Formats: sequence, structure tokens, C-alpha cells
Amino acid sequence: MPRRRVRFCGMAPKGLEDGRNPGKGHIALRALTVLGIETSCDETAAAVVSGCAPGPGTILSNIVFSQLEEHRPYGGVVPEIASRAHVEKIDAIVVEALRAAGVNLGDIDAVAATAGPGLIGGVMVGLTTAKALALAAQKPLIAINHLEAHALTVRLTEGAHFPYLLLLISGGHCQLLAVEGVGKFRLYGTTIDDAVGEAFDKTAKLLGLPYPGGPQIEGLAKRGNAKRYALPRPMRGRDGADFSFSGLKTAVRQVVQNGEANASDVAAAFQAAVIDILVERTESAMAMFRGDFPHAREAAFVVAGGVAANGAIRQALGDLASREGFEKKIPPPGLCTDNAAMIAWAGVEKGQLGCFDDIGVSPKARWPLAGTPRGGERRRAGKGLKAP
Ligand code: KG4
Ligand code: ZN
Repeated sequence: MPRRRVRFCGMAPKGLEDGRNPGKGHIALRALTVLGIETSCDETAAAVVSGCAPGPGTILSNIVFSQLEEHRPYGGVVPEIASRAHVEKIDAIVVEALRAAGVNLGDIDAVAATAGPGLIGGVMVGLTTAKALALAAQKPLIAINHLEAHALTVRLTEGAHFPYLLLLISGGHCQLLAVEGVGKFRLYGTTIDDAVGEAFDKTAKLLGLPYPGGPQIEGLAKRGNAKRYALPRPMRGRDGADFSFSGLKTAVRQVVQNGEANASDVAAAFQAAVIDILVERTESAMAMFRGDFPHAREAAFVVAGGVAANGAIRQALGDLASREGFEKKIPPPGLCTDNAAMIAWAGVEKGQLGCFDDIGVSPKARWPLAGTPRGGERRRAGKGLKAP
């Protein structure tokens, strides 16, 4: 039975929900039902989400097909294999998402798809599919920044008011940002070399573990001795909130090459180093956030991206948030890793603000959320091959 798709559900406080139009006063927010499509890396995903900012929303369906088995033999994501797998799966995944939600195309308000950043072949598949559906069903199209979708997921899962501090930790990104509104971000820090998920994947590969490395390392670390190897904490004590992980990876390589490395102990030492780095850099960003938003007393600290699925990292960042007086909000692990519910939700948020896209909108391999952090260094904007 199709659900009712349009209802009025409130007014956005001035300049709070409408990050793009802070001076325009109150706007009516209408609950929307959006079909979302995600194909930027190695998950082919479609979902239907319904709701209203600031959330929480309702996930009517959330279908994710992971291409892991196809990429595993290569130790990382192979872009050509990913694109072909997306082409093969996307139609069936969309049909399944609509079926599971109990809606058809006529019932939804808009079609949203990841338009970047990501592996360009995959992004093209999802965005083109969304364009075809939007044209066929005469529905608006919404092009979503994958990183913004991660950033807004917490509003889908539990609701959150702007501004909040976001730590985005995924296979292609490691950033600390203030999320001030939809499309409005302030960058405090980013990685100057590897992303944190990439560091997990490379360390796992050095230990002979399969891709993706994050869950493998987390599993091994539980029975390892983190003190057995002394690994570096790059950037500790430096001004700003930038990260660096390549020195840590090199140190792990040296330990492994020296022979007789105990895999569990290496995993535990590596994960402990990552936790120290994330905690110290986040502490620094929290001070910057407090300086920028002194009135945001009940400020939330949000962690998003695939690495936020890691239990030990969640625990350490939760403890930090309590110490620093932030309200910790971390989406459940299944919504931290790539999925289409977050894309559909970002579509809800943008749709409510009237941000729709032309059918000619282009896919983008690179699409940074924000520019240079204060006192910052160079940054990487896009996602690439995740293989070490
Ligand atoms: O957000 P995501 O699904 O994809 C990107 O947009 O990159 O993140 C994938 C990354 C991979 O590097 C994977 O190893 C890491 O998240 N990851 C983890 C865990 N689960 C996934 N890292 C550490 N611990 C985990 N439990
Ligand atoms: Zn992601």
C-alpha cells in the first residue's frame, strides 16, 4: 500500500534549517519521500526514505549489494570491475528498493543519486539511472555529494540541529568540519596524505588480510597487545586539525618486514595509534568549533563514514565527547558504511530547500565539501582506487 507522500510538518527556525538561505526567514518544511541511489565506490545501493528536517526520518527500504567478492582477489576496488558490476545490478536493486518500501515511482517526490566524489564510472551509472527514472516518472532530480550524505546521516537516524562538529572517516576521506547547514561546511582539518580507512586497508594488506581491512584489523586487535610495538602518532601537537597516516603505515611495514611480527599485536598497536591520532586531532577541532560557535552549548559531535563502524574508535570518540561536553551522535554501523538511505535522506533535505538539479548535471570524480582549513595544508578532494 503506497504511503502518503506529502504533509506539512513544521517551520524551519530562521537561519537554522535552511543553511543556504540563512537570511530569508522561515520556510515551510514539507515531508518528502525520496528514492536514493549510491554507486560511487563498491556498493550498488538504492533506498527509499521519508521525512522532514531536522529528522529523524523513516527508512522505508535500504538495499545494499556489496561488490566485495568481485574485488577481493585484487586486494582493493578495481574501477572497471566496479562500473560493470553497478551496470549489472542497479536496475534490480532499484526495483527491490521500491518493492520493499511498498511504493512505486509515482509515489515518490524526487530521485536522488550520488553525483560525486567517487570512482567516475560508478558515479555515472547511478546518476544516469536516476536521470532516466526522473525523466520517465516526471520527478525532480537531486544530485548528491556523497560526503554531504555521510555528514547528514545523523539527522536521518536521530535528528540533529546545526551547527555540529563532524569527523568524517572513510576509505577516501579523513576530515573534521563544522556542519552549519545543508551545503554549508567549515573545514578544520583534513588528511595531508592517506585517508584513515585507506590506512586500515593498507595495514591489513601488509598483514596478508583480505580487503576491506578495517573489520579484519578490528577483529584481530581485540586479542592483540597494543604495547608490543611502538608506532608513531603523526601530527600530534601540531597547530590545526590536519591528519597524516602515511608515516604510520610505513612504520607498520618496517615492523612486518623485520619478520616475526605478531599480526594481532600489530593490529592492536596500529588501531591504538589511529585512536590516539583521531582523539588528539578531534580535541583540537573541538576547541576551534567552540571558538566559532560559542553559543552552541548543546553542540553535537558526529562521527560518520565507514571507519565509524569500528567499535573501539566509537568508544574512544564517545569518551572524548563526554570529557569535552559534546553530545556524541554516531549513526549505527550499517549506516556509517556506504548506503543509499543516506543519499535519499540528503535528497529529502535538499528537496525541502528546493534544491533540484537539471537533467544535464555532470558526475564529478572530485567534489570537496569545503576549501582550505585554517592554517591548513594541501588536501585531497576525491576518492580513488582503494587498493594499497
Ligand atoms: O564510507 P565507506 O563505506 O566508503 C567510502 O566512502 O570510502 O568506508 C569504507 C572504509 C574502508 O576503508 C574500510 O576498511 C573501513 O571503511 N572500515 C573500517 C571498519 N569497517 C569499514 N575501518 C575500521 N574498522 C571497521 N570496523
Ligand atoms: Zn562513503
